[in-house]
Amino acid sequence: VSLENLGSSTEEKYLGGRPELGEVEGILLPKATCSEWSRIQSFQARPDDLLICTYPKAGTTWIQEIVDMIQQEGDLDKCQRAPLHHRHPFVEWARPPQPSELGPSGVDQAKALPSPRTLKTHLPVKLLPPSFWEQNCKFLYVARNAKDCMVSYYHFQRMSKVLPDPGSWPEYFQTFMAGRVGWGPWYNHVKGWWKAKDSHCVLFLFYEDMKEDPKREIRKVMQFMGKYLDETTLDKVVHHTSFEIMKDNHMVNRAGVPLTIMDQSISPFMRKGTVGDWKNHFTVAQNEIFDIDYKNKMVDTSLTFRMEL
Ligand code: A3P
Repeated sequence: VSLENLGSSTEEKYLGGRPELGEVEGILLPKATCSEWSRIQSFQARPDDLLICTYPKAGTTWIQEIVDMIQQEGDLDKCQRAPLHHRHPFVEWARPPQPSELGPSGVDQAKALPSPRTLKTHLPVKLLPPSFWEQNCKFLYVARNAKDCMVSYYHFQRMSKVLPDPGSWPEYFQTFMAGRVGWGPWYNHVKGWWKAKDSHCVLFLFYEDMKEDPKREIRKVMQFMGKYLDETTLDKVVHHTSFEIMKDNHMVNRAGVPLTIMDQSISPFMRKGTVGDWKNHFTVAQNEIFDIDYKNKMVDTSLTFRMEL
């Protein structure tokens, strides 16, 4: 049973109030994920798995659709076969204890999928199930600048009923900087995966680069996947995965997810899709505070971001 197909009484039972997060090794995660942690940690990766890794709101949905379009060689009908979250199981998605219909878990979905699988995770390096490293899987990481991630996450938490209420913008600003959000601090996440690329098969992409020149970045993904599409098909992939087209595509825009799980009248899942929206949210004072803190936290990495185009 998918989230879309739930009956309303079931949703109400589950979504009586906004849930708090649980914690694993100091990282906040949905409570249901924490409860199933030992099952998630013993996840059995396969050598030909491709794992899409992102911090939440960094462009996961975008890269997922790009990857599927490449795998389906530009066949739009094949990409319409199911909503994205069914095409690419979410490794740490766990069924909340109530109701039992809210499943199956990411682990079970992945088990049922034939190889080669494409999977999705938001886990930081230190929490990734070890079999992914042991099997030498391919990892596709997309990073997005912290300020736009913060803004996007704030609007997402306003409308997502399965994550804590973000409070006001000034409150959320503090919460995000302190890393007290689902999947932990942005800083450790991007730095950890940036380092992982030195010893593992990681293609590290930036949301800002994808906005600047999607064709160039999609070519990198093709090369990484060992798939070569002709120029016409590549143009089709670029067009189909543009924000303007994806926002009206019901297989990616979460249109079928019920109001009690996501209320898109508060903020659409496909919200703006731009670089630099933080400028419409950060006050001058917040920006100064953020920049000082950011510099301290990023002093030990060679990783840099563009915050505008
Ligand atoms: P905004 O809230 O800034 O609009 P995720 O998929 O990881 O949850 O990320 C969601 C963010 O990616 C949202 O950002 C969303 O609008 C943006 N996004 C989704 N599809 C996109 C696309 N095709 N092009 C650009 N941005 C996209």
